[in-house]
Amino acid sequence: MTEDRVPPETKPDVDVDPITSQAEAERAVDKLRDAVRYHNYRYHVLNSPVISDAEYDHLMRDLQRLEERFPELKTPDSPTQRVGGEPREELGVIDHPVPMLSLKAVYDEADVRAFDQNCREELGVDPVEYVAEPKYDGLAVELVYEAGQLSVASTRGDGETGEDITPNVKTIQEVPLSLLEEDSRAIPDQLVVRGEIYIRKDEFKSLNDTRVEEGKDSFANPRNAAAGSVRQLDPRVTADRPLHIFMYGVANPDDIGFETHWEAIQALPGWGLRVNLEYAERFDDVEQAISYHLHLADRREELPYEIDGAVFKVNRIEHQDRLGVRTRDPRWAVAYKFEPRRATTKVRDVQFQVGRTGKVTPVAVLDPVQVGGVEVSRASLHNQSEIDKKDIRIGDTVLVERAGDVIPHIVKSMATAGGRTDEEESRERVSIPEDCPVCGSQVVMSDDKKQAHCTNVSCPARIRENVTHHASRAGMDIEGLGEKRAEQLIDAGLVERLSDIYRLTRDDLTSLERFADHSAQNLLDEIEDSKERPLDRFIYALGIPLVGRHVSQTLAQNYKTLEELMDASEDELERIDDIGPKVAHAVVAFFQSEENREVIERIRDAGLELRNPLHTQEGKEQALEGLSFVFTGALERWTRDEVKRTVEEQGGRVTSSVSGETDYVVMGSDPGSKLGEAREREILTMDEEEFLAFVEGRV
Ligand code: IVH
Repeated sequence: MTEDRVPPETKPDVDVDPITSQAEAERAVDKLRDAVRYHNYRYHVLNSPVISDAEYDHLMRDLQRLEERFPELKTPDSPTQRVGGEPREELGVIDHPVPMLSLKAVYDEADVRAFDQNCREELGVDPVEYVAEPKYDGLAVELVYEAGQLSVASTRGDGETGEDITPNVKTIQEVPLSLLEEDSRAIPDQLVVRGEIYIRKDEFKSLNDTRVEEGKDSFANPRNAAAGSVRQLDPRVTADRPLHIFMYGVANPDDIGFETHWEAIQALPGWGLRVNLEYAERFDDVEQAISYHLHLADRREELPYEIDGAVFKVNRIEHQDRLGVRTRDPRWAVAYKFEPRRATTKVRDVQFQVGRTGKVTPVAVLDPVQVGGVEVSRASLHNQSEIDKKDIRIGDTVLVERAGDVIPHIVKSMATAGGRTDEEESRERVSIPEDCPVCGSQVVMSDDKKQAHCTNVSCPARIRENVTHHASRAGMDIEGLGEKRAEQLIDAGLVERLSDIYRLTRDDLTSLERFADHSAQNLLDEIEDSKERPLDRFIYALGIPLVGRHVSQTLAQNYKTLEELMDASEDELERIDDIGPKVAHAVVAFFQSEENREVIERIRDAGLELRNPLHTQEGKEQALEGLSFVFTGALERWTRDEVKRTVEEQGGRVTSSVSGETDYVVMGSDPGSKLGEAREREILTMDEEEFLAFVEGRV
C-alpha cells in the first residue's frame, strides 16, 4: 500500500444520507477512504485491527453508497475496488490463479433474505440451494496442487497477489504435501483449494501462557496468533506453533468437473485435505440456512476453535458462475456474522491487584458493556509498559475485546489518534503505586516496566493467593480450599504460610464458623490425598514467579527430585530448552530464600511423596506410551486440560479429531459425531470410568 500510514480518524463522523453537494461528497469520500485504508493496513499488514469487523463493514458500506450516488468520485484506487491488504514483500509474492475474493458481511436476517432474493431473481430459480459452513476466524490460505504435489501456498494479500508462505505451510502436519490417491476420483492436474489456518482456543491459551512465562508479549487473539505464526520469515517458528487447517472450497471447480460446492468439499477429504464436514450442511432454501446460523451461534462457545459467523454459498457451480462477482466479493456467497466480540466503553477507574507472587497488576474498571453476549466490566491492563504504550487514561473510551476464552483485554484507547484534544489530554494518567495497596510495603518495578512486585514476602494478599494457587486444580488439587476458605483460615491465624495447610487439625477447622464436622473431615481428606500429587504439580503449586504449568513440567522432566532442582544453578537451568534466563533466575532466587526453604521442608515433613513420572531417565514404561486418544462429549471428573495432561504425562497423545491413527475414543456424556466416526472406523471406545481404570493401570 502506498497510502499514508498516519492514523486518520479511526471512525470518521460522516453521515452519508443528507449529503447532496459534490464538494461535501468529495470530503466525505476522502475521509472514509483514508479510514478504510488505514484499517486494511492494521488488519492485513500489522495483524492488529483497532475497530470491530462490524464497524469496518459499516465504513465500507458508507463509502460504497456514496460512490454509487456520485459515480464520478469512484477512482480505480478506491478501497472499494479491491480486496484490501498488502503483501509483505520480504516473503515473496504469488499471483493467485483465480482471484481470492472477500465476502460481503451481513448482520441480520433481513439482509440474508435480500441476498437470497437477489440470487433467486438473477437465476430465475426458486428456491436456491445453499451450503452453510462456519466462518473460521483465522488466516485465509490458498494451496495449489500440481499433479497432486503441493506447489505453492499463499495468503490472500490484495486478492490478486498474495504472500508466498509455502515453506511455512509445509510445516503444518494437517497439510498433505501430496494428495492421496482416491479410487473414485482421479487426482486433477491442478487443484486450487482455499481454506483457513487457525489455532485452537485451548492451544492459544497454552501458547500465550508459555510466552508470558518466557517474558514475551502475548497474542491478542487466536487469529493474530495464527497469522503471526504463518507470516514468518523463519519456517521453524511456524513449525513450533499448534496450527490447524480447514479447507472450505475449490477455486477451479469447473476444471475438475465438480457440479456443486457440496460435491467439491465432500471430495477433498478423499485426497487427504481436511474439511470440517461435521459443520457443513446443504440446504434446500435460505430459511433452513438461517436456522443453521442460529444453531451455530448457540454452539459457538463450545467449539474448540474461533468462528465469527456462518458462510452461505450457492451450491450449484453453474449458478455461481452465472451470478458472478461484484468488485470485491462474489454475488453467490455471503458471510452472516455473529454479534461482534469487540465493543467500546469507558474506563471508570483502575485498581491494582496483588497476586500470589506479589505481582501488582493494574485492572481497568469499565462501564459495563455487552461484548458478544457477555457483560464485561473489568479488563486487565497487564503492566505499566502496556499502559504507557497504549496511553490509556481514566475517562478514556477504549476498545475491549473478548477472544479465545481469555479474560477481556483493552485493544486501544479511542482518544484522538495522533494527538489528544485538550480535554482528552487533561485526563488522569495511570501509574502503578509506589506502595502496595494491600500492605503498604514498597513496590519495585523492573526496568522495562513490565513487572511490578510488592517486596513483602508476608503480604496478606500474597499468602491468600498463594494458598488458593497451591490448592488449585492444576496445582495440588485440594477441593474445598478456595478463596473464601483460604481467607477464613488466614484471618483466624491458622495459616500464615503454605506449610500450615498441612498441619491443620480437625479441632482447628471445627473451631471456625460455618465449618461442620463433615466438611472439616472432607477438607482433611482432600489435603491427605493431595500428598500423592506428582512433582511437576508440586513445583507449579509452589507459586514460583514465571513458573507456570509448562515450565513446571519441563523442570520435572529434567530433575528427578525436588532436591536436585533446589540445588540447580542458573547456568544449568538455562541449558534446558524452553528455559530462558529470566525463568532460570526466578527459580534460583526462589529456592535461595531461607523462608522458602523452610516452608518446603515443613511441607515435606508432612509426608509428600513427590513421585516424578515425567522424568525422562526414569526408564519405567509409561502406561499410555504411544497411544492416541480422542475425547468426545462432557467429562465429569476432568477438564479437557487436565485429561490432556494426564494422558501426556503417561506418554500418550490427545488429538481433536478421529483419524486412522486414533487408538481410543473416550466418550463423556452427550458424545458428538466423533462417536459415529469411531464406530465407522472400528476404533475402540470407552467411557470415563473405563478410561480411569485404564490410566490407573487397573486393566
Ligand atoms: S469462502 C468467495 N468459506 O472469510 C468465497 N471463507 O471474507 C470466499 N472464511 O478471510 C471465501 N471461513 O478466509 C469462505 N467457510 C468459509 C470461510 C471463509 C472463513 C474467511 C476467508 C476470508 C474471509 C472472506
